[in-house]
Amino acid sequence: MDAALKHLERNHDRFLNLLLDYLKIPSISAQRKHDADSRRAAEFIRARLDEAGFETGFFEGKGLPTVHGARLVDTKKPTLVVYGHYDVQPPDPLDLWESPPFEPVIEDGEIRARGCADDKGPSLALVLAAACWGKDLPMNLRFVIEGEEESGGTVVYDYLKVHRRDLADAKAVAIADAPGIARGVPALCYGLRGIAAVEVTVKGPARDLHSGTYGGSVANPATALARLLATLHDAKGCVAVQGFHEGARPIDDVERKRLSKLPFDERAFLADTGSPALVGEEGFTTWERRTARPTVEINGIFGGYEGEGSKTIIPSRATAKLTCRLVPGQDPKRVQDAVARHLESHAPKGVRLEIARGHTAPAAYMDPETPWAKAARAALERAYGCPAALTREGGSIPVVSAFREAGLEPLLLGTYAPGEKAHSPNERYHVEDFLACIRAGIHFFGAPPA
Ligand code: BES
Ligand code: MN
Ligand code: MN
Repeated sequence: MDAALKHLERNHDRFLNLLLDYLKIPSISAQRKHDADSRRAAEFIRARLDEAGFETGFFEGKGLPTVHGARLVDTKKPTLVVYGHYDVQPPDPLDLWESPPFEPVIEDGEIRARGCADDKGPSLALVLAAACWGKDLPMNLRFVIEGEEESGGTVVYDYLKVHRRDLADAKAVAIADAPGIARGVPALCYGLRGIAAVEVTVKGPARDLHSGTYGGSVANPATALARLLATLHDAKGCVAVQGFHEGARPIDDVERKRLSKLPFDERAFLADTGSPALVGEEGFTTWERRTARPTVEINGIFGGYEGEGSKTIIPSRATAKLTCRLVPGQDPKRVQDAVARHLESHAPKGVRLEIARGHTAPAAYMDPETPWAKAARAALERAYGCPAALTREGGSIPVVSAFREAGLEPLLLGTYAPGEKAHSPNERYHVEDFLACIRAGIHFFGAPPA
């Protein structure tokens, strides 16, 4: 252990520079024009695994490769899988960045770049933790680092199917892709929400029409879409789609109490959002609303003229991109069906709807008291100098349920500060958290459960 930690001490600067180089690669999996960049990111992380003594490969499929690496030191020792993603969200809107998203800078102890916290920093940290152990690595490790987490890709699922037997020796999968609970306070996150994407297009006239000549005589698709979307919630902020909540597990009293005791700084949370106030479903706390209740969100809404000045038209169509966040018990496909039925049955007169179903993933809920979970918590505590909080989070990591089906227990390590602006302009990551995450990996890999 000491030797591995010493190795980290001696390599701070080199490790940090590696992360900065990694962050320079715009591996935006949602955009085909960045495929070559994504592949460079895959090669970059593979090279780090190579350097750490792993036997590595690319798993190719319909999309971007999944990088895998194995270091099997002793079949009698336990095996841990480590998952992460090398892709990042698009950096748009670009004009809101204080420094360019793929030209990382360090200011006030924070790295600024797209993907620094989500997830290049934490996932690289665990690779480097393995490197710190050198030839003395105390357990078997298998890394799986995919390139389509942020865009609903499926290559990693095929990897898990094809390589199921390779993973059979592992009981758990560590994932450093979540925030802690406060600055310097890590978390073991035992719940994630699932997701179900739906896109709806409202179609009206065959072309954009003069709004003077035709206005008042045909349905306006943008107005129709606005009315339609307004029916998704009731006055209490609850999703008003019939069948949407089917199977959704309520929050029980034990958990309510547990969540209410989290050291959650609601004022800081509000300040971070920049919103005038926190609002949401009646009868639930902010933490419950954002992690343990299902939602429907409009991610994008467009149609008609968006250019400079004014243009007097009735647009021929308008579109909204929706995603639902799901809690344990909800079936993502059934939720998509329920939303589609709701939209169809609430469509205003005079328009036609086109509905497309997007990616889905169920929610995840884990037991934070298993031997592996306790080992992960102990490692976080040693690395950060304080106990890891037990949290539920509202985001989704689609592959988590596939790992579970493959018999692996997901261990979601919350290693960075809340409010690092993942998916937003000016994403950041504290250098200290990068180093702490490497330390957490060193401790975890050094002390598997008995
Ligand atoms: N790391 C996040 C998931 C996450 C967010 C976990 C917050 C814990 C707290 C992940 O990279 C992510 O953003 N996932 C997407 C998945 C989607 C594109 C299918 C998400 O949640 O939007
Ligand atoms: Mn992530
Ligand atoms: Mn993300």
